Amino acid sequence: MVRSIEVFIFCLLVMLQAPFINNLKLLNVRIANHTILGSSTTLKCTFDLEGEHLYSVKWYKNGDEFFRYLPKSKPNIQVFEKSGIYIDIDKSNSTEVVLKSLELSSSGTYRCEVSAEAPSFQTVFQDRDMITVEIPWISGLQHEYNVGETVNANCTSSKMEIHAQLVWYINNEKANSTVEQGPYYKKYFAGSGQLVTTVLGLSFTVTDGHYKNGEIYLKCAARLSTHYLLYSDEKIIRFTKRPPTESIISNQVKQAKMQENSISVQNTPNIIHMVCVLVFCLRNNRKMLVAY
Ligand SMILES: *[C@@H]1O[C@H](CO)[C@@H](O)[C@H](O)[C@H]1NC(C)=O
Ligand SMILES: *[C@@H]1O[C@H](CO)[C@@H](O)[C@H](O)[C@H]1NC(C)=O
Ligand SMILES: *[C@@H]1O[C@H](CO)[C@@H](O)[C@H](O)[C@H]1NC(C)=O
Ligand SMILES: *[C@@H]1O[C@H](CO)[C@@H](O)[C@H](O)[C@H]1NC(C)=O
Repeated sequence: MVRSIEVFIFCLLVMLQAPFINNLKLLNVRIANHTILGSSTTLKCTFDLEGEHLYSVKWYKNGDEFFRYLPKSKPNIQVFEKSGIYIDIDKSNSTEVVLKSLELSSSGTYRCEVSAEAPSFQTVFQDRDMITVEIPWISGLQHEYNVGETVNANCTSSKMEIHAQLVWYINNEKANSTVEQGPYYKKYFAGSGQLVTTVLGLSFTVTDGHYKNGEIYLKCAARLSTHYLLYSDEKIIRFTKRPPTESIISNQVKQAKMQENSISVQNTPNIIHMVCVLVFCLRNNRKMLVAY
């Protein structure tokens, strides 16, 4: 007897639940695992209402709501101020939120939460982590080197929660570890914890064979491994040996290699001309590829 009451109650509960089961579904929350400082990124959240009516789409970062879409309100979109979050409202809607001018503090756990209207008030959500990083930079290089001179440079990673794995390339070949120094780690104490920059030195004596068409091509790549993935970016520096009339340095930053994925390109040329007795030209080209 007791048993059949239990079965009855169980069935009743299942029946009561039934109209709400398999209704509102979150199909996909897509957020780039890594984003680049200063760039933009699109947070995507797709859902299937399965006959329900949409009440709200809310976005949270580390538990704080920063975006709300209510189809029945005017305006539809409300945004809440949060450090590291700058929303491009014109490009945002119920399924996409565009974040611009990313900062290192944009890193965090993002949640998309979708709710249906009465009577079900069903709510579904998913979390995704995003890390905003800065491309590594090269320092210490002179404008020009002759055969027999020593090239000394450092490659420094962005401040991160993890140690970056840095690699130097000379003319697109991985530099022998005998010409690398470090890595050295510099720790910084941030609000919530500790951040680290990684520095990898490069030191080698230039030989005639290093010059390819009068230039040596140096590149530093950062390989950031988080829980599941690797992300890398590259920085490229070319410089020429001293020619009779002029010397040209060009510094290119390239960031690539991020597994499959869609790509957007950002270009920031920055040219400094130095006119001495001879003409020196320092050119700095930054190119970024941002991918999902
Ligand atoms: C992003 O990270 C998730 C888990 O953290 C992983 O499953 C996914 O493959 C990563 N995506 C890319 C493009 O690396
Ligand atoms: C949101 O905007 C994106 C890009 O403009 C567009 O592709 C998408 O269809 C829009 N979604 C809705 C539900 O309007
Ligand atoms: C590279 O960094 C190390 C450690 O911070 C420093 O001692 C060295 O002087 C730097 N070298 C150059 C060429 O900037
Ligand atoms: C790296 O340099 C060492 C010492 O000069 C040499 O013995 C070794 O073969 C080099 N390795 C590569 C991969 O070039």
